[in-house]
Parts: sequence; structure tokens; C-alpha cells
Amino acid sequence: MKVLESIEDVRRSVARAKAAGRMIGFVPTLGALHGGHFSLIEAARSACEFVVVSIFLNPTQFGPSEDLRAYPRTPEADVAACERLGVDLVFMPPVEAMYGSGSLTEVHVKEISETLCGRTRPGHFAGVCTVVAKLFNIVQPDKAFFGAKDFQQAAIVRRMVRDLKFPLEIVFCPTVREADGLAVSTRNSYLTEDQRRQAPALYGALRLACRQIRQSHPPAEEVAAAMRDYLAAYAPDGQVDYVQIVDPNDFRDVETTDRPVLVALAVRMGTARLIDNMLVDAP
Ligand code: PAJ
Repeated sequence: MKVLESIEDVRRSVARAKAAGRMIGFVPTLGALHGGHFSLIEAARSACEFVVVSIFLNPTQFGPSEDLRAYPRTPEADVAACERLGVDLVFMPPVEAMYGSGSLTEVHVKEISETLCGRTRPGHFAGVCTVVAKLFNIVQPDKAFFGAKDFQQAAIVRRMVRDLKFPLEIVFCPTVREADGLAVSTRNSYLTEDQRRQAPALYGALRLACRQIRQSHPPAEEVAAAMRDYLAAYAPDGQVDYVQIVDPNDFRDVETTDRPVLVALAVRMGTARLIDNMLVDAP
């Protein structure tokens, strides 16, 4: 396995793999790799002959009051995990390599970046799209793998790929959960013991919504109200950022649930902001 910091070295290595007829799979990450990331790497491994993982704590997607400085960094463990999972190339660029020459260009995907997480994290998705566009141009993968845990992110990136004609496919991979249902996330490590006990309520609220929608497809506002009550009861230390039932294509609120919907929520607990979602197909 190669561990490279230079853009030119990555281009050369990928070009050689392509010349040998190998399909390039790519998994972009912020590092501090966990089971969620591993599942994407495994999906890439089984679909592609050459797997690239990027580890880059991208400063432009963190707001000024967010957790960039506190975000865990575990480069040695990350590289060891990639090696174990059969990754071919780990790309760990320094910040200067990605942004150093005074980048003036940003990529904004309109409308679908402005709802859900985009409302409470202004500029976040522009930071994500800008770095992902740079990474796609450097790695030039055939397929890139994203987690459904960050459904809005994956959908925005897929839209960017379509609009900007990147010649690659975005593959959504299912959310990996702890045994009690909590979606695996780096930010779970910020939780106190007590908050950690309450955190599976996010998944509980999603399952409640899914059950209600499948049983009787009530008005969306009723489902959202039931989810808020559930969270107040089972995660009293959580502060709801949003609980929304939206169209999975444009992320606009829906009124009725007799159609495919995305149920999504974000809850702050202490210093952690937890997100989760569930796609509920029409009954
Ligand atoms: P990061 O939070 O490190 O996540 C990297 C990828 O892992 C994302 O596609 C995310 O959806 C996926 N992932 C995280 N937790 C998961 C889980 N429990 N189950 C399945 N997949 C999971 O998302 C980012 O980094 C960044 O925004 C990035 C795309 C790398 C751009 O900087």
C-alpha cells in the first residue's frame, strides 16, 4: 500500500493503475476512521480493482464555531486500518497542497444545500463540494463511495457530479450502526456516558416515524411531532436542531407521507451534533 502526500504522485500512481486496466474506487474521509468508513472501503474493494482512500481534515467545511480543532486525528491507526482492508493508496495531502496557492474557486450546489443541515451549517456543503471536486480531479476515480448516514451530502455530491459532468459514479452505502442503533460517527466520542445512553433515541425516533408512515401514512407534521415527543422523553439532554420529513430528491418538506420520504434529524448533545436519517418508501 502506498501512502502519498503529493498530488503529482497520486496522479502518477492512479494513471499507472488505469493503464493496467484497473477500475479506480475512491473513498474520501476526514480521517479518524471507524466502522462506517470501513464499510465504504469494503464496498470499494469489492467493486473496484484499485482502491484509493483520502484522509484530509478539510478546514473549509467547518464553521468558525465548529469542532475543527477538537476533531480527532489518528493517522497511524488510519493507515494501519487501510492496510488491513487491502487499500492500494492512501492520499494524505497537507492543507497547503489543497488550498495553498490562494484558491478563489468554490463549488456551490444550490437549493438542495440550503435545507436540513445546510440551514444550521451555512457554507458547510460548499466546503464539502469544493474539496470533493478537487479530490475527484486529483484521483479521477470511476466510482466514489459515500455513506447514507450523510444522505444530504451524498445527494449533493451526486448532483454536483451530474451538473459538472464528472465522469464517475457516486455509490451510496448503508448506514453502519452500533448494536443499540446509534449511527457510528467520530462525533460519538464527544458524548458523556449519560449522553451516550440517550443517543440511540435518534434511531428510535426514526423507527417510530417509519412504523407510523407504513401503518397509516399520517400527515408529515403529525409524524414529526411524535418524533419530537419521543426525543423529549428518551433523550432529554438533546436539543433538536431539526426533525424533518422531506422529499428525498429535493429535500423540501412534504405534507403527506403516502409517497417515498426521507425522515431526517439533527440533535445537539453537549458538544456533539448528531445526525441520522431513514428513507421510507411508499407503502
Ligand atoms: P467523514 O465524516 O470522515 O465521512 C467519510 C464518509 O464516511 C462519508 O461518505 C460518510 O457518509 C461515511 N460514513 C460516516 N459514518 C458512517 C456510517 N455510520 N455508516 C456509513 N457511512 C458512514 O463526510 C466526510 O467525511 C467529508 O464531508 C468528506 C466527504 C470526506 C469531504 O471532506
